[in-house]
Amino acid sequence: MKVAVLGAAGGIGQALSLLLKTQLPAGSALSLYDVAPVVPGVAVDLSHIPTDVKVQGYGKDDLADALKGADIVLIPAGVPRKPGMDRSDLFNINAGIVKNLVEAVADNCPEACIGVITNPVNTTVAIAAEALKAKGVYNKNKLFGVTTLDVIRAETFVANLKDLNPANVHVPVIGGHSGTTILPLLSQVEGVEFSDEEIESLTHRIQNAGTEVVEAKAGGGSATLSMGQAAARFCLSLVAAMRGENVVEYTYVETNSDDARFFSHPVRLGKDGVEEILPYGKLSDFEEKAKNDMLEGLRGDIKMGEDFVNG
Ligand code: NAI
Repeated sequence: MKVAVLGAAGGIGQALSLLLKTQLPAGSALSLYDVAPVVPGVAVDLSHIPTDVKVQGYGKDDLADALKGADIVLIPAGVPRKPGMDRSDLFNINAGIVKNLVEAVADNCPEACIGVITNPVNTTVAIAAEALKAKGVYNKNKLFGVTTLDVIRAETFVANLKDLNPANVHVPVIGGHSGTTILPLLSQVEGVEFSDEEIESLTHRIQNAGTEVVEAKAGGGSATLSMGQAAARFCLSLVAAMRGENVVEYTYVETNSDDARFFSHPVRLGKDGVEEILPYGKLSDFEEKAKNDMLEGLRGDIKMGEDFVNG
């Protein structure tokens, strides 16, 4: 199993790479690429941790080598938010970065599963899909927007509110990955009752949790450590699925539904990526309204990505 992390020297990239170095199955390879000159040092640093995972760093001009033979490519490359910014404010810089990196994936490891972390995810996943399509290698079962952070945040906040062990709390989160497009399905949390006020305030907190971190870091970036954990969980689930285990994760994929072209669903993962997109089940009236209110915005985000590639 070879996993490539593109943007590996950044806040997310380093946290993610550390978790993968310690948790990937024995015999795996971890390929770290970044345009920042520190990346070989990050690789040397990680290589001193005694696990049977080979780490190799690749600088600016070595993207092709970083990608050759990769089974999974994770992309946290790009700029993060500063206070006052919306995820869509990152589009101008990050759209081109994601397009270039995904084109290199198409050229060097077209069979790989790709997990896009770079924001705005609602749009960058559409960019990735269109860039792969233009190269003639798009496989919708192998392209994922990583929305796991919304799930782990939702689980933590519910557990904290209800004084439960977060390990035992499961919260479905569907939709997209920005503001109101993030839709936690609190009505489906087993064994927990919420008042209407709790549902409203929890939903709002989950949708704005990223901004909580951006403001607390006061100009020093956005979520990196919790995102590293979220991306590692997603990657390890994909690895487990590729090795034959039955795994379901919520992730932003191309669907055939009427909601939007890309939508976070529960997805059964398998050795070739998406094995089955599962239904998200019955929504409460509150959730149904929240979904209907945000669909137009989500579709607009997706269209912006499609137009970026197709002109
Ligand atoms: P960062 O600034 O700490 O790291 C980004 C890294 O990307 C830097 O090391 C930079 O050198 C590298 N980079 C820039 N252009 C590159 C290129 N063309 N090729 C390879 N590497 C390149 O940022 P951070 O905090 O790690 O965030 C990265 C991205 O992840 C941001 O867009 C952020 O908004 C997004 N994000 C996504 C989340 C999600 O839930 N999907 C959650 C939090 C952040």
